[in-house]
Amino acid sequence: MRAAVYDRHGPAREVLRVEDAERPEPGPGEVRVRVEVSGINPTDWKSRSGATPRPIDGFQIPHHDGAGVIDAVGEGVDPGRNGQRVWLWMAAAGRRWGTAAEWTVVPEGAAVPLPDSASAELGASLGVPAMTAHRCLFADGPVDGKTVLVAGGAGAVGHFAIELAKRAGARVITTVSGPYKAELAAKAGADLVVNYREPGAAEQIRSFAGPGGVDHVVELALGANLQLDLAVLRPGARIVTYAAEAADPVLPVRACMTANVVLRFVLLYGVPPEALGQAVRDITAALAAGALTELPVIRFPLDEIAAAHEAVEGGAVVGKVLIVP
Ligand SMILES: NC(=O)c1ccc[n+]([C@@H]2O[C@H](COP(=O)([O-])OP(=O)(O)OC[C@H]3O[C@@H](n4cnc5c(N)ncnc54)[C@H](OP(=O)(O)O)[C@@H]3O)[C@@H](O)[C@H]2O)c1
Repeated sequence: MRAAVYDRHGPAREVLRVEDAERPEPGPGEVRVRVEVSGINPTDWKSRSGATPRPIDGFQIPHHDGAGVIDAVGEGVDPGRNGQRVWLWMAAAGRRWGTAAEWTVVPEGAAVPLPDSASAELGASLGVPAMTAHRCLFADGPVDGKTVLVAGGAGAVGHFAIELAKRAGARVITTVSGPYKAELAAKAGADLVVNYREPGAAEQIRSFAGPGGVDHVVELALGANLQLDLAVLRPGARIVTYAAEAADPVLPVRACMTANVVLRFVLLYGVPPEALGQAVRDITAALAAGALTELPVIRFPLDEIAAAHEAVEGGAVVGKVLIVP
């Protein structure tokens, strides 16, 4: 099969190569998937570059996320799963067989049925972003009736945070940096979209949230946004942070104490298995209900995987970068 492979950490063009590799066979409890679309997330380039290195077991085919069709099942797996359309999550976590190849093998629980109504592009966009969004929203209970602020509502995680929060009965405010991203965030269902780079963002959020203030923030830039967050939160509100900035912020402890704020951090690799299982069930139900949509997609052929990684790494892409093997 054709596969993208690296065997050491480094820049995309230096370490990623596309070559013929042996097609993997599913072991006990595993399924093999003919990959239709492979999704790239920031964690994939960070693992490959060594920015946040993950161990390489001889070689690594990158990418956790993808969508495709099961074409072989291992011992103990229901043969009825053959031919099933699936979306994939965490395919490359502690395993060689990421989704940037014509085939991958994953534990059967990491291949989740994809409804016919959902495109392969949407299926390949879900894993890391939607599961992270789910954890950031629900780690401490339901958000029904709450006012949730999602930072960066046109980003991959932000997009699904808006859609999952709306489906869960929250009022959703989101921040963006310009009109096109505002359009995407509104389309995802945000009740209020605010440009965080313009003056008056806090006032707009406060006036929409009402006297109680914001209950819950899904945050990706704690240092950059903490003043804004503290200006709009109700006492005792939560800030759930899922991304690290280039430099760690200095925490204004007294201001946080005054707000009685609760800080939580989320890293998908360490989320408890039962919470991941709940995320898979909730995302599946949301998909079936048509409540999840895809961002605009930017497709690259497998041979151009280095360019695709550079696009994600450059951070200027609006939408989701996908590989078609
Ligand atoms: N903890 C985890 O398990 C986990 C899981 C998934 C992702 N992540 C991390 O989360 C980050 C985002 O991932 P992603 O896939 O969602 O990336 P993405 O699709 O590129 O989205 C990032 C979004 O954040 C916006 N943004 C940047 N600075 C902002 C600020 N100060 N306030 C509001 N919005 C801001 C960007 O737009 P503008 O710059 O135009 O505002 C962009 O729309 C990455 O660093 C990734 O590594 C962590």
